[in-house]
Order: sequence, then C-alpha cells, then structure tokens
Amino acid sequence: MPNEEQFEYWNEKAGPKWVDAQAMLDATLNAFTAGLMDGACLAPGQSVLDVGCGTGQTTVEVFRRVSPGGSVLGLDLSAVMLEAAAARAAREGTSPTFRQADAQVATFDGDRFDRIVSRLGVMFFDDPVAAFANLRAATRPGGALTFLCWQSPLENPWIALPMSIASRFIEIPRPEAGAPGPFAFADPDRVRGILERAGWAEVSIEPRVGSMIFADGSIDGALLFLQKIGPLSRLVAEIESDKVREELLQALRSGLEQVAREAPEGKLALGAATWLVSASCPG
Ligand SMILES: C[S@@+](CC[C@H](N)C(=O)[O-])C[C@H]1O[C@@H](n2cnc3c(N)ncnc32)[C@H](O)[C@@H]1O
Repeated sequence: MPNEEQFEYWNEKAGPKWVDAQAMLDATLNAFTAGLMDGACLAPGQSVLDVGCGTGQTTVEVFRRVSPGGSVLGLDLSAVMLEAAAARAAREGTSPTFRQADAQVATFDGDRFDRIVSRLGVMFFDDPVAAFANLRAATRPGGALTFLCWQSPLENPWIALPMSIASRFIEIPRPEAGAPGPFAFADPDRVRGILERAGWAEVSIEPRVGSMIFADGSIDGALLFLQKIGPLSRLVAEIESDKVREELLQALRSGLEQVAREAPEGKLALGAATWLVSASCPG
C-alpha cells in the first residue's frame, strides 16, 4: 500500500490531535486561505477537488466560492479528520462531499475537475510524480492545480526558532531532502520538475510570505500549538525525562517572550514563508 506510514500517522497520531486543536488550527492557518483561494480563480459552477482537506476549513470556503451550481470533493487519508470536516460543513450550512482516499492512487468517477486545490496537503506522497499524474488525469483539459506548500524551515522562523531552541536540549533529526513531510516541497526546482514530469503545464511558483500568529497570538497559545501540532510536537512527545522537557519548554517560553517583546503591540508573530504553486492541465 502506498503512503502507509502517512496513513497511519494521519489516522492514529496527528489526526486526533488536529481534531482536538481544531479551533486553534483554524485561527492559525486561516491566514493562508485567501491567497490560495484567490490564486485558484474560483467561480460559481466549478467542480473542485480539495486534496488533503483535513478538517475541511478550505473545503467549506471553496464550496462558498463555487456556489451556486458548483461542487467540491474534500479528499483525505484521515478518517477522523474527515469526520470533523463533515461536521464543520453541516454546521456551516454547506454541502461539500468528503471521501477517505489516497490522492496518489484514488480513482474518480464522472466529470473531471475544473480546479484542484490544496492548503499544505500535497507534500506527503511517497511517489509525488505518480500522485500529480493521477490528479492531472482527474482534471479537465484547461483546468488548473493550485496549492500552498512550505518553503524551507530556514525561511520559516515559526519553526526554525523553536527548533533551534529545542536543539540545545535534544537532538533534532534532519530528514532527507525531499522526503515526504511538511518541508518536502521546499525546493521550487524540484516541485517544478515533479509537476512537469506528471504532465502539468505552465507551472508557476511564487513566494507568499507572511506571519504565523499561533492561535490568539499569546505566548501560551503558541506554546500549546507547538506542543500539539507539527514537527516539534513529535520530538517533545518523545522526550523521556520530565526535567529535560520542562527545561526545553521553559527556554521556548523565554525565546517566544523575547520575540513578543520586540513585536508591535506585543503580539507574537513569527515569519512564515510558503510557495503558491499553480499549473494548468494541457488539452
Ligand atoms: C498539514 S495537513 C493540512 C490539512 C488541511 N489542508 C488544512 O490546511 O487544514 C495535511 C493533510 O494531508 C492529508 N494527506 C496526506 N497524505 C495524503 C494523501 N496521500 N492523500 C490524501 N490526503 C493526504 C493528511 O491526512 C492531512 O489531513
């Protein structure tokens, strides 16, 4: 089975935490939604696939933008996240469709999609060329793919700073460049190569740089976020010594307090750099 590790990770480990922390994640990640939606040029009547839709914040927003007359399918590996997504859609009076499947190998019945979008959900494939070829085959000629992915950790102080503080206490593993994970698409040349080999045309990769304001912008909110979600949370969870964990968290708090002290209005905001990637499906 492809992407077996990711399946297990998003169903058993990260998925339940993303659902628990949904309000905090919604507040944090929503800053990246408008750029993606505008980049995708959505319009009423379109049929859209949201890849790696998670708990559905973007799926619901796409639904609104393609209404009336449009349709949205939110696709994800994680059953628990899809359950939360469906509950959100119902709560917000929208009716996208959700499906648990692996975007790398999923088959799609019926008409092909006008648009494929993803907010940070396409960096986890073990065979990205196969995955993007599969998505292209599901897109109508002239249709388009638009997604956001992270630039390298070094361009992202929201993770570089906490990791550098953590490295004083624990060893930070260095994943192989391009290995499936949040930073797999940091190299734009690699992304372009993958998409072109998968048959996409007119590939454009533009920086979208802003700020990561964790949850409510408080130090406590940021500490909670970093302990629950993302690469640092995995490392903190594995620390066996309570003393080391406490010292690391205390150092993290001091580091974040220093950033907040220097920030306008004392709100904690750390730099965040993504790529907005778009491509078209040739006729
Ligand atoms: C970083 S989360 C982003 C979730 C959502 N797009 C958001 O912005 O809130 C990545 C998502 O991609 C999903 N995912 C990872 N690999 C996938 C695959 N091969 N097929 C479908 N979904 C996948 C995960 O289950 C997870 O929900």
